[in-house]
Amino acid sequence: MKTVLAIETSCDDTSVAIVNSEGWVSGSLSLNQDQAHAKFGGIVPEIASRNHTFHLLPLIEELFSVTAMKPQTLDAVVATNRPGLIGSLIVGVTTAKSLAMAWDRPWLGVNHLEGHVVAPFLKDSQYHPEFEPFRSDEPFLALTVSGGHTSIYHVHQFGKYEVLGATLDDAAGEAFDKFGKMLGFGFPGGIKVDRASAGGEPDKYDFPRGLINEEHLSMSFSGLKSSAMRLIDELEERGGTELIQTELAHLCSSFQEAVADVLVAKLDRALDQTGVNGVILTGGVSANSRLRERVKAWAEKRSVQLQIPPLRYCTDNAAMIGFAGALRVERGEFSEWSTATSPYSLPQDFTSAPGATP
Ligand code: KG4
Ligand code: ZN
Repeated sequence: MKTVLAIETSCDDTSVAIVNSEGWVSGSLSLNQDQAHAKFGGIVPEIASRNHTFHLLPLIEELFSVTAMKPQTLDAVVATNRPGLIGSLIVGVTTAKSLAMAWDRPWLGVNHLEGHVVAPFLKDSQYHPEFEPFRSDEPFLALTVSGGHTSIYHVHQFGKYEVLGATLDDAAGEAFDKFGKMLGFGFPGGIKVDRASAGGEPDKYDFPRGLINEEHLSMSFSGLKSSAMRLIDELEERGGTELIQTELAHLCSSFQEAVADVLVAKLDRALDQTGVNGVILTGGVSANSRLRERVKAWAEKRSVQLQIPPLRYCTDNAAMIGFAGALRVERGEFSEWSTATSPYSLPQDFTSAPGATP
């Protein structure tokens, strides 16, 4: 078993954790920068990188203090080094390499998306997954839905990911955030759309379900965004902001229903194509209450095992990076001191199924 210090700074959350290759989280601390970016209506990369430099080392110091662990007990230091915002990644990677060198330990760069794939299998004092396909090399499907990615992977085993389909334009999280912005929720809007949907009628507004009837597993969420914009303009013209407020729960509920319909339909096809027994829903948007409900109901109907992480492991966190890293360290994998960051995944990270979204 290997134990690692993990650093996640691929976007705007600064997160650190100590995790082992069984998925056990000894400690995990995160700071979000939502307030710093809210007034700009989106993430400003320069501000994100600068804030990571403020927060990262004090957070690591606090992590050692709350876990009562020492660097000497670590086997390696791992950090997300792809994909993500370059400035943000550089802060995490440079810190990881420096600490590893100072402590005479190896370091390893981890793919952020692999972190999301292992997130449902983390363990702590309050959460234990019901099924662990990694242990038996059992293949499963991963629906990874975040602010930057929306993809369905056929996970053949840990480290072997085949892309079956992905969004051709906006990620689902991005669509949620843009919709939230139109409604004046600020940034990030996803969670606010979720909260505002309470009590709304999911079929009051008929938002487009892009590519839902296509046999392939590619997805599209940009039409949803344009249609929402037109609808909100129209409602505003008719009844001003008062009407928008009256309709708010219906609008949010109908919007997330459209997203859930597409994701569930594609997952259903992916299951037909692969015949696996297990599915995971992961990434920031897997925190969405309606999507969780819909995917749970679907998994029951199709009699497949389903694992969704608890909310703290849905959105970006270092624990998931630590688990992926520790599993790789256990296999003897390390990065060079010269290994750098990349805004994209590397060609060896994923394969593509024939006819899958490029
Ligand atoms: O995985 P994540 O933390 O970061 C990326 O890797 O992108 O995902 C962030 C995304 C944002 O778009 C955010 O609005 C969305 O996840 N999100 C939600 C909810 N919580 C977070 N979207 C819908 N409903 C939620 N409850
Ligand atoms: Zn993420």
